[in-house]
Amino acid sequence: MSCGSSVTAPASYYQRHIFFCLNERTNGDACCAQQQAQAAFDHCKSQVKAAGLAGPGQVRVNKAGCLDRCAAGPVAVVYPEAVWYSYVDTDDIDEIVESHLKNGQVVQRLLTPEYLGR
Ligand code: FES
Repeated sequence: MSCGSSVTAPASYYQRHIFFCLNERTNGDACCAQQQAQAAFDHCKSQVKAAGLAGPGQVRVNKAGCLDRCAAGPVAVVYPEAVWYSYVDTDDIDEIVESHLKNGQVVQRLLTPEYLGR
């Protein structure tokens, strides 16, 4: 039996996704929700929309549960580049939107250290 067909990926519906961990723990362990992750998510969503970047072929801002990098939180990850960010405030989110989501340039200063996981 021959398998001569090749798999061709369809065009991506969105150019980029950014996922924000919004996980909340009630047992006292560190979590992104304790560090204003919801506010950052809301801010990112509104900035992406205001910049005209939201929608098919562009950018989608998504909520996520724990991304298992809690020690680096609050975190967000951008795909398809798989670039992880540890942000602090809305200025950081503005920079991610303008530089990465709009122009495809990684914000080096906000990169999550590789060694930080859970
Ligand atoms: S709680 Fe946010 S990465 Fe785990």
